[in-house]
Amino acid sequence: MGEKLNRRDFLKTGSVMATGSLLPEEVRASAWAAPEAQSARAISANDHIQLALIGAGTRGQYDTHVAAQVPGVKLVAVADCYDGRLIHCRETWGDSISTTRDYREILARSDVDAVVIATPNHWHKQAAVDAMNAGKDVYLEKPMIHLYSDGPELIETARKTQRVIQVGSQRVSSMIYKKAKQLIEAGAIGQISVINAWWDRNPNDPVMAFDSTIPPDASPDTVDWLRFLGSAPPEPFNAEHFFQWQKWKAFGNGVAGGLFVHLFSGTHFITSSHGPTKAVAMGGIRYWKDGRDQPDVLLGLFDYPEGFNLHLRVNFVYGAAENEGFVFTGSEGMLEISGDAVVVRRLPRPPAPSYGISSFANTTQEKFLAEYHKKYPAVHPSGEPSAEEERYAAPPGYNDVYDHFNNFFDAVRLRRPVVEDAVFGFRAAGAALLANVSYDQGKIIQWDPEAMKIH
Ligand SMILES: NC(=O)c1ccc[n+]([C@@H]2O[C@H](COP(=O)([O-])OP(=O)(O)OC[C@H]3O[C@@H](n4cnc5c(N)ncnc54)[C@H](O)[C@@H]3O)[C@@H](O)[C@H]2O)c1
Repeated sequence: MGEKLNRRDFLKTGSVMATGSLLPEEVRASAWAAPEAQSARAISANDHIQLALIGAGTRGQYDTHVAAQVPGVKLVAVADCYDGRLIHCRETWGDSISTTRDYREILARSDVDAVVIATPNHWHKQAAVDAMNAGKDVYLEKPMIHLYSDGPELIETARKTQRVIQVGSQRVSSMIYKKAKQLIEAGAIGQISVINAWWDRNPNDPVMAFDSTIPPDASPDTVDWLRFLGSAPPEPFNAEHFFQWQKWKAFGNGVAGGLFVHLFSGTHFITSSHGPTKAVAMGGIRYWKDGRDQPDVLLGLFDYPEGFNLHLRVNFVYGAAENEGFVFTGSEGMLEISGDAVVVRRLPRPPAPSYGISSFANTTQEKFLAEYHKKYPAVHPSGEPSAEEERYAAPPGYNDVYDHFNNFFDAVRLRRPVVEDAVFGFRAAGAALLANVSYDQGKIIQWDPEAMKIH
């Protein structure tokens, strides 16, 4: 299974002109070669990594399935605040794993090397800080922060403890995103002026609009309510708040923290930017009037110091099938990421520049044309220049979550940097949450992406 998920060969298709490529030959070879294959490393006994899961909900259990497919990784313990999920983890991974409602019991174990943290966002910082202080390496789900004050504390704890922390926007490890980065760096589309990215979801799929299913046995007996609340304002047991926490600011960060953050991680990885300097967002609760305090439609505009604008959209009231994607608009072409493929489209450069002379006096037109044809001799017209397109698709079954965990576990074993450390994670989440600040305050927000601070 691991081998299947880890396949790294691109399926390449494309229609190009007789000249053969959208890119000059010298950059083409390097830019369009498949990423270096990572040969499966032999795992020695002391390479073995014992993993624990903190927050065993939908994502935590999925992450753990994938993580456990990386050779040499074994799940040993799980912490969660709902008994039904602890039971299901034992059903899945066997009674040999230990389960608890209190993650501190896991952190006290000397046989746990690393933890996956997939709690609601308001627990991300504290659980990760506690884990690093207990000597554990951390895979922390996105968004890295719930509050801006979480960022510096996480960065500083990682530095002080020298623990590995990988933030869980898995697309940063995707072979598709790596290909897009290579292509853009090789000049495939020239200078970027605008990036559009979106994530739209059909309202007939409530779970995808954060309306998660509440189990019939949800009660103060099966749920450790006070532990779940943590730093959130005190309130009596509320099953919606527990299971559908993404709908409320007290626990989550809405669509900005849920989905914009992936689009920022992708943008920053592909362009090597540290983030925007200005942000403005608009939207509203257009459809899901179910008591949530976060918009279900959010549009954001961001100004980047590199000289481009990012336009983001999340729409949970999208009548067609769910889709997400990117279009990078460059001076010489377009690069699109959609599904598991990256496509570059370019119009070949015309042999002569265009002109507009029809409103000038006839003698001026004749004079202009005489000069023009001296400079650009007429060629036999061959119709519209044909568009060039090349497409790289990941192989069926490719899973970027596997590659993201692989990157994490390599860093754990070899004590080397990960692809998405705490600084990267703060720059992505910090930028994403600017949209919420702008939406709440109804104004443009200024951000310093180097210092990672709102002005
Ligand atoms: N990378 C991705 O593509 C992706 C996708 C979905 C979700 N996520 C992230 O994963 C995280 C979890 O999301 P989810 O959809 O699985 O939510 P979920 O509600 O299904 O699961 C969260 C779990 O955390 C548990 N929990 C709460 N407080 C805890 C505590 N103090 N100690 C231990 N467990 C605690 C809850 O009991 C619950 O089972 C979120 O941060 C979300 O943003 C990432």
